[in-house]
Amino acid sequence: MANTILVGAQWGDEGKGKIIDVLTEQADIVVRTQGGNNAGHTVYIGKTKYVLHLIPSGILRKTKVCVIGNGVVIDPVGLVGEIEGLAKIGVKVQENLLISETAHLVLPYHRELDEQREILKGKNKIGTTKRGIGPAYGDKAARVGLRMIDLINPVRFEEKLKIKIKENNEVLKAFGAKPLSFKKVHDAYRAAGDKLKPFVANTVVYLHKAMQKQKDILFEGAQGTFLDIDHGTYPYVTSSNTTAGGACTGSGVAPHRMDRVMGVMKAYTTRVGEGPLPSENSEIADMLHGMGREFGSTTGRARRCGWFDSVATRHATMVNGIDDLAVTNVDGLDTLEVIRVCVGYRVGGKTLDYIPNDVEVLARCEPVYVDFPGWKVSTTKARRWKDLPPRARTYLQALAELTQAKLAIVSVGPAREQTIML
Ligand code: IMP
Ligand code: MG
Repeated sequence: MANTILVGAQWGDEGKGKIIDVLTEQADIVVRTQGGNNAGHTVYIGKTKYVLHLIPSGILRKTKVCVIGNGVVIDPVGLVGEIEGLAKIGVKVQENLLISETAHLVLPYHRELDEQREILKGKNKIGTTKRGIGPAYGDKAARVGLRMIDLINPVRFEEKLKIKIKENNEVLKAFGAKPLSFKKVHDAYRAAGDKLKPFVANTVVYLHKAMQKQKDILFEGAQGTFLDIDHGTYPYVTSSNTTAGGACTGSGVAPHRMDRVMGVMKAYTTRVGEGPLPSENSEIADMLHGMGREFGSTTGRARRCGWFDSVATRHATMVNGIDDLAVTNVDGLDTLEVIRVCVGYRVGGKTLDYIPNDVEVLARCEPVYVDFPGWKVSTTKARRWKDLPPRARTYLQALAELTQAKLAIVSVGPAREQTIML
């Protein structure tokens, strides 16, 4: 399989969790490189549903090593909860997990600030997951963050945390929010630090040694291209590079060591939180929600839904260098009479074939659609390409052509076996 970067080609929730789980079979190591517990990767094995937030989905396969890279922001208390939750359902987390020493910490004041800033923004809010992600990356960029390496050093952690709590309590007071107790935060984080210490390692050195031994690495992206801090619909984005470049900076593996980029996209479009979504459509939203689909795995929020937007996915191919595509949730469209695909945007008397950078312009864009006839039979039992109804094949091939990448995987349901490899 060689080294593969897997990215979301839309606004997150493309079904990456399941595709990663399927691809992990061929990998030796799975690495998370950005984001934090804002992510929610859902994997079904048999009837059991697993939702992972920080730990790579590879943990569900016994022989694989999972790495939380330097680019991730870690809520240590949340991570311990995730490890203990997995233990309860029989998934052992031991030598199979490594956590980067230089990954930054998410602290309670980050969560508080995330919430307070959203309240202050009012109707202009981002609609964050309130996990403290933006403020944590803010501290990292401002060079005032605490890292895993600090957490596992009790003396240093206490010293640094004291200053941070003091500073942030002043800010919280200015917001009219309750200040935090140093002792409470310190004790909870130190307890988590002791539990996480055995996993903390120099992951850059580990990954390079593994590559010398010809190990295959899968880089597991979180969120999606249009939530990228640089390439997304700023400011309605998350605070990390969700695009392929983030896999390099977030792991310490150089660009030329990467062999392939796989983009994951839904057969339609969804988005959680605020910000423009040109092909948003209430008819498809009502249908999907009516089927019990498209509720967020981290926050439970109903996702906004729309038709497939090929202007967006083609842009994703450009910024990520997507070679291969995995198209998920194809079965979600099984009952539709007509399926629309956005192929351009109309704005100010012009037709655009790219995403404008100004979100206010993007918000005014009217999609140009091409209609495809629905196949109107269930695809959930298809296991090979030829099992799919001809109209579904035509639709999927069109999505790949418009996205300018090669169709490699089609997913027709949440289970491992509901996967067609081309
Ligand atoms: P934050 O990452 O919590 O700061 O949220 C910023 C934006 O990214 C919001 O619109 C969130 O809904 C969205 N977001 C963050 N993580 C995910 C994810 O894993 N899936 C989908 N949307 C996400
Ligand atoms: Mg998700």
